[in-house]
Amino acid sequence: MAWLVKFQSENNKRRKRRVSVGPVCKDGAGLYHVSVQGALFIVFLAFCLGMIIRTDKLLLNTRSLFVGQNHKTAGQKALEWWKTSIIYQIYPRSFMDSIGDGIGDLKGITTKLDYLKDLNVGVIWLSPFFESPMADFGYDLSNQTRVDPIFGTMEDFEILLKTAHAKGMKVILDYIPNHTSDQHPWFIESRKGNSSNPYYDYYVWKDGVVNINKTRSPPNNWRSFFSGSAWQFDENREQYYFHQYLPQQPDLNWRNPKVREEMEGVMRFWLDKGVDGFRVDAIQTLFEVEDVSLNEPRSFKPNVTEEEHDYVRHIYTQNQDETHDVIRSWRQLLEEYELKDGKKRFMVVEVYDEDISQVIKFYQSGADMAFYFDLLFLNRTCGGKCIQAIVNKLLDHLPEGKWPNFVLGNHDNPRIASKMGLEFVNALNTLLLLLPGTPTTYYGEEIGLENIELSYDDTQDPFGRFYGPERYREVSRDPVRSPMQWNHSYQSGFTTASKPWLPIHPMYTVLNVESQSRAKSPSHLKLYRQLAVLREEAAFELGSFEYVLVNDNIFSFVRRVDGQPAYFVAINFGHSVAMEDFRSGADATEGEVVFTTGNFQHHIYEVGQELELENIVLNPGQGIVMRLKNPGLR
Ligand code: GLC
Repeated sequence: MAWLVKFQSENNKRRKRRVSVGPVCKDGAGLYHVSVQGALFIVFLAFCLGMIIRTDKLLLNTRSLFVGQNHKTAGQKALEWWKTSIIYQIYPRSFMDSIGDGIGDLKGITTKLDYLKDLNVGVIWLSPFFESPMADFGYDLSNQTRVDPIFGTMEDFEILLKTAHAKGMKVILDYIPNHTSDQHPWFIESRKGNSSNPYYDYYVWKDGVVNINKTRSPPNNWRSFFSGSAWQFDENREQYYFHQYLPQQPDLNWRNPKVREEMEGVMRFWLDKGVDGFRVDAIQTLFEVEDVSLNEPRSFKPNVTEEEHDYVRHIYTQNQDETHDVIRSWRQLLEEYELKDGKKRFMVVEVYDEDISQVIKFYQSGADMAFYFDLLFLNRTCGGKCIQAIVNKLLDHLPEGKWPNFVLGNHDNPRIASKMGLEFVNALNTLLLLLPGTPTTYYGEEIGLENIELSYDDTQDPFGRFYGPERYREVSRDPVRSPMQWNHSYQSGFTTASKPWLPIHPMYTVLNVESQSRAKSPSHLKLYRQLAVLREEAAFELGSFEYVLVNDNIFSFVRRVDGQPAYFVAINFGHSVAMEDFRSGADATEGEVVFTTGNFQHHIYEVGQELELENIVLNPGQGIVMRLKNPGLR
């Protein structure tokens, strides 16, 4: 709600500055009593009425959220790097293969750092490259502080980090606290079942239920994300162990202080190497209640089988309060490092929850950001109003002083270009990069990379394989993990191997970095670069966010900060051509076009052109950004 309060006070300030409607009308009312000429009064009354209608319209259509607390150009402290940067997620297997084995690696990433610098990326998030049997492609670690030979060596990582830093970019790593691989030495020891073994309680072990006919069942009905029971019987220890994900990913026992200590050690290891922070994996599942006699209640979600994760509501296995104590302790640890050298260490956590209060709790307990994922689920039924509801859901709940963030894609969800269509790629990147807060781009979104099609036989993702040949398409994450497309040559320049670990998308001859860099016309990549530069303007980095006009098609807003140019952004996310008058909502009559998504069929708008805010025509998937002239003067 703090955002709303700020909105109101800021909006009031602006309204005062803009037009002194109130006092003039009051005076006018007074004049009536001192017998002003009738005709003059009627004209005046009409003027006042007009202003009231306009104010009403403003109240309906605009909503201002003051983002910036500190203003660079006002000589105050600059925003911290994680607030002004684009976060770019790299899935190392799929980014660049330097040795020709068909799998991306760390050296490959280093060769592409200039590309990222050119994109104006400030933070690189590396998905796991640590030692792993790869049951879940690196999210199952057999050692958290070693580099898996598939990706190279520790020296390769050190070079990558040093080079990125030298180019002014930060590097954050995936940190996976919920589980390890079943091949991790801790688990190998733990399953031996010897109670004097120091690793005995490192994982969540429970006895099963012995049935009347002497058969055994898991302790309760808790389900794994990848479907089936979350309990796996271990013949050796003769107990069940708990796994929220694959059976090859046993959950660590966070109630054991030694586990906390070990995992702090992992953080320290990478901080000592010089990394700038972490993306914390699967944080919501860190704890489950101790009392395993508690079955989770049915969700009654339609079309969900008994085996599926969603069959029950996860009230005992997710979002437990203890998780936030751990977050607080990690924040302290990061601060300990910050105190040593004055450099910020960043923590963003992975939280999927329809209940926004669960997302916000992580902001409150010490994460700099909890990823806000609702834009991931956009589809073509979502127009301007629907996007507004998604944006507001976060902004309305964000506590004072906390920083928003938006995400369009990641390695677990269908690619946005496939869900929305290629004609929306530029509009989506405009939205992502110009909304308030920190944007995260999943590799390839800047060139409009789409999902690949894969047969069941070629499916690698365990999630897809679990669901079998009939249903693998519903859940497999392989389609969003295909190799980055660098050029139109063999294997799109990703590898020299004849078979990359996942196939290259057949559209690679068009959707690739080189072709889009060289294109004469405005390509996705060129436009992304323009937006990435534009968002460095003070208004976008720290300015207020005010809706101008939002309807089933249009999503439009103004970003402004005192003493700096204000910008108007309008995007058509609908199904039909829209012609709108934005003057009253934008509180300006004209501006200069500074960016367009191009390809306007009905009207040609060009960068540099002066334009009235009246009758702007946008086709579905098109957007325009204008630097406002004389905002507040009409
Ligand atoms: C996170 C990762 C996902 C992985 C899971 C288990 O949700 O993003 O890829 O499968 O955790 O580690």
